[in-house]
Amino acid sequence: MKVFVTGATGYVGSHIIKALRQQHHSVTGLVRDTTRSKDKLMPGVHYVAGDIATFENSGIDLVAHDAVVHAAASSGKEWMLASNRFVDQVLTAFAGTSKKLAVQGGSMVFGDTGQRPLNDALGNPYFRNLPGFEEQVKLEKKILGSPAQGVQSFIAYGSLVYGGQGAMIPRILKQTARDLGYSPYIENGTNRWSAVHVEDWADLFVLALEKKEFTGPVMAAANSYSLREVAQIVANANGLAGPKEVPYRGNEELWRFFTLPLATMNQYYQGQRAFNLGWRPKKPTMERYF
Ligand SMILES: NC(=O)c1ccc[n+]([C@@H]2O[C@H](COP(=O)([O-])OP(=O)(O)OC[C@H]3O[C@@H](n4cnc5c(N)ncnc54)[C@H](OP(=O)(O)O)[C@@H]3O)[C@@H](O)[C@H]2O)c1
Repeated sequence: MKVFVTGATGYVGSHIIKALRQQHHSVTGLVRDTTRSKDKLMPGVHYVAGDIATFENSGIDLVAHDAVVHAAASSGKEWMLASNRFVDQVLTAFAGTSKKLAVQGGSMVFGDTGQRPLNDALGNPYFRNLPGFEEQVKLEKKILGSPAQGVQSFIAYGSLVYGGQGAMIPRILKQTARDLGYSPYIENGTNRWSAVHVEDWADLFVLALEKKEFTGPVMAAANSYSLREVAQIVANANGLAGPKEVPYRGNEELWRFFTLPLATMNQYYQGQRAFNLGWRPKKPTMERYF
């Protein structure tokens, strides 16, 4: 396949590119500034300069590719608008072709799963309009609805993603524990999150891209841990005391943006559709990674 990947220098995008190259797919990566990102570029990959915000003027021909992986990410309203416009351009270029659009997703759009795992085979009626996620949910619904336009789209969701350089939540957990001198969890820490190694997540993208008729949501859920278990893992790995329970009140900024979800939400998934694709996570568990 000829695959166009946005976010080619990013944590998720670069791992997807590596996995695609391992399966001998041809990859074009979008990079904002090839000089500034020189150290992150991989041999065997064709890189083109461009910005999602002005992609329509880039002259890049999406139709020349069999698939687009949209792994670029940023924050704010401007970004959401630009990302939406880009997705529209892909859907227009690919309409009626059965080509693929693949997007990475953060599972928080599904809200609190509760203590029983949410099965990806149940489809996507589970979007919750959590404050701050409304636009993201709208975009994801549009992407998941695009098979009706003849575009084979899927969204691969990850929750607690670890491995390599750039894993957001593990980095914050580790840094906070080191700063405090102990590894904390909030309230009783019984809420449960699914976890996946970024390389396994990337492998799932490749499998789903290679399976021509595969569309819809798919969960990359390799293992699951309660937040107390996560705190124990962080304590052990860093030779710190703990895990130690702390109250939410007074610790609202403990893990920055992730404090409320990590303190109050379950993000517990069963990746039935991933399993049916033949996905079998192979990378070390979080205990070994930390
Ligand atoms: N990291 C995690 O642990 C994790 C876990 C679960 C879900 N996710 C989700 O995965 C997504 C990707 O996260 P990430 O960790 O890979 O982010 P990242 O490492 O910060 O990478 C973001 C990428 O997007 C590119 N980008 C940003 N703005 C752009 C623009 N206007 N035009 C073109 N490219 C642009 C960046 O390119 P430049 O090099 O030019 O800046 C970079 O390649 C996010 O939606 C995140 O929520 C991440």
